[in-house]
Parts: sequence; structure tokens; C-alpha cells
Amino acid sequence: MNFKERKNLLEGKQQVHLLRFLDQLNDDEKQILFSQIDAVDWGFEQAFHNDKKKEDTMIEEIDALHLDKIQADSERYRSIGLQAIKEGKLCLLLLAGGQGTRLGFDKPKGCFNVGITKELYIFQLLIEHTLDIVRAADAWIPLYIMTSNINYQDTVTFFEAHDYFGYNPAYVHFFVQELNPATDFNGKILLKSKYELALSPNGNGGWFGSMVKAGLLEDIHARGIKWINVFAVDNCLQRIADPMFVGATIAYGCESGAKVVRKAAPDEKVGVLCTEDGRPSIAEYYEMTEEMATARKENGDLKYGFGVILNYLFSEKKLEEIADAHMPIHVVEKKIPYVDENGTPVKPEQPNGYKFETLVLDMVHMMEDCVPYEVVREREFAPIKNLHGVDSLDSARELMRGCGIEL
Ligand code: UTP
Repeated sequence: MNFKERKNLLEGKQQVHLLRFLDQLNDDEKQILFSQIDAVDWGFEQAFHNDKKKEDTMIEEIDALHLDKIQADSERYRSIGLQAIKEGKLCLLLLAGGQGTRLGFDKPKGCFNVGITKELYIFQLLIEHTLDIVRAADAWIPLYIMTSNINYQDTVTFFEAHDYFGYNPAYVHFFVQELNPATDFNGKILLKSKYELALSPNGNGGWFGSMVKAGLLEDIHARGIKWINVFAVDNCLQRIADPMFVGATIAYGCESGAKVVRKAAPDEKVGVLCTEDGRPSIAEYYEMTEEMATARKENGDLKYGFGVILNYLFSEKKLEEIADAHMPIHVVEKKIPYVDENGTPVKPEQPNGYKFETLVLDMVHMMEDCVPYEVVREREFAPIKNLHGVDSLDSARELMRGCGIEL
């Protein structure tokens, strides 16, 4: 893009203020500013014109594959799943590009030490668990790790410094997710400095596109991978590459599976699996009316009673089919440091603008079907979002102790 084209573009998008300090910049700074402007994915603008609401769609309950049914078929599911893993059809996709702002830890969340008497890192827990499956299947499982450009180097260095916790490095690939600009409440992109846009990771929904951009699709094809198990970094009891979950999804002939737990209370802040206009979908807790959150079946169970724990299995073929489809953009209010019109840096105490994210949970709605696979909350769900209180280091440690994990 030449200067005139860039200026026209910004004028058309009412973002020409980004060039406000141009006269004060040296050549290097100008280049940084121009390259950041040229790289903007303007898809975020869609968030300001999103008028399709959940209220406009037909939401219906969906029943999970219950624990007792899973138990009854456990041998069959396990053998189907293990066979798929042995044949190299499964890979793992670790979402580790988040900023972990609520935890307030300035390194990648996976580098957090949850141990008390010994070192026990979140990445280590995930790897050690996967190693159990690797041994059972007698096959390495490719692991792709998505970082942001902010935490990429720290993540790679951490794995190298710990010898990948015993994993085979030939089966580990890191890649970087894209960034989105952050705006003020009027949709004007904020400047972090006179020559840099305020950018933040674009959410956990863009992972497949970022993987393709990183050239990893060739690797997926070359290895013959058919299933991708996507999961969050911050669940210390996350059971990934779970042969029974893989086996059940294959046995049901579905395009996806989602691990779910029974909601602890009607107002628990988890997204619930449901159907939306006949397709699988996830209703976020803040999208649910009180009536929906508290509705019960005849047997007293909550109608929308199964919460997702960010552990999904997707058919790789289907992901390629939907790769170009637009995903909804979610708007999150945030405190965004910026420079004001005089070029003075401001560190806001209160949210002053928006960041824009796509979310992996919206991928579920792009699938024809999904197996809601129930798991035992105390065994598989110990997220660390905060230091104390709900979904915290304290609660995760208690749950880990309950599973016999020595801290
Ligand atoms: P969260 O929604 O908890 O976000 O991420 P976060 O950034 O880690 O934490 P807060 O909200 O700032 O406190 C859920 C999962 O999605 C990943 C995270 O790393 C985590 O595994 N994620 C989130 C990404 O990979 N990229 C993103 O842009 C956002």
C-alpha cells in the first residue's frame, strides 16, 4: 500500500487519527506504524454491526452422553480411541495465547508453578498426562501450541529449558496467533505510542486460521491427522487425548465432541451446550435469561445443565471446510493503555475501550453435530483464572489434592 492508498483507507474507515503524530516520527517509526496499519484485520468492525442475537434464534436443550452410559460402553470407546491414536489420527492443540490478566502473572500461564513443596508447572501437568496416553497407545501424539506474539518466546524458552518435560520435541510445534486492534468506546483504534497501535491477541477462536497461516496444515496432512483435540491451558486437571472421548465421538459418527460437566448451580458462570436452530451451540452464561438458567426437567435436573470446560474434539476435514466462514466477533471491555491526542501516555484505571475476539466455542455451532461427553467435575475441571476465590489457584490446588496429586 502506498501512502495515499493508506490514507484513503483510513479516511474511509474514520481512523485517520492514527496518522496524527506522523510529523514527529523518524523513518523507522513510520515504517512500524505503516506496517501495523497495513496488517489490520478489519473484520473487527463487524462487531459494531452484529444484530443477530441469541433471542432471534431457536434455543433448545440437548442431553449429554451421561457418565453411566459412558461407563457401560467404556471398553468399546477406549479401544476405538486408542486405535485412532495408535494410527496417528489424533493431534492436540493447546490454546496458550491468552494474557491471563485475572491471574496477574506476567509470564505465560502454562509456566505457572502450582506446586507447594516442589515445582509443578501447568505445562508439565499437561505433558505428563499426555505421556500416560502416549505410553498406552505406544505412539507419540503431535502437539501444536498456540501462543501470542507477546508470550511466544517465553513459552518456547520454557519448554526448551525443561527438556519438554520428557515429550518428544519432534512432535511439538509452536505457532503464533494474530492480533486485533483495540478501540475506544466509539470504535476509534487506540495508539499505544505515537507509532504503534494498541493490539491484543484476537481470542481463542482463530486458532485454525493461524495454524494454516503458520504452514502447519501441510504437517497435519503429512501425518494423516483426522481429529484435533483443542483445549485450554489453565485447567490443571485437563484430560487430553482421552481415548474414551475420542472413541465415543468416532463411535457416534459425529463431527465434534465437547467435554461437559454437570453445572454446580443454575447461576454457575459456564457456557452450556444446547442446540440453536437445530445445530449444536453453546449459550454463554451472560446470554441466558434467568428462566433458561433455572428451567428444570421433570426429573428435577437443570434443562441446560451441562457446562463446557474448553476441551473439544473436531474433525479436521470439517475444520478445513469451514475455514473461510466468518466467526462472530465478541467485544470485551478492557483497560487499554494508550497515548492521548497530545501524545501523553495514559494508563486507565477503568475500562476505556474494547478488544475484539473470536471464540473457539463458536466453532461448535459450525459443526453438524456434537457429542456432549459428560465427565466428573472433580476429576477433570480445575481451572485457574484467579489467584483466590472461584476458579482460582486455591480451588485448583484443593481439587488436585482430591485427585491424589502431590503438590
Ligand atoms: P481465557 O478466556 O481465560 O483468557 O482463555 P486469558 O487471556 O487466558 O485470561 P484473562 O481473561 O486475561 O484472565 C481461555 C483459554 O484460551 C486461551 C487461553 O490461553 C486459555 O487457554 N486464549 C485466550 C488464547 O489462546 N488466545 C486468546 O487470545 C485468548
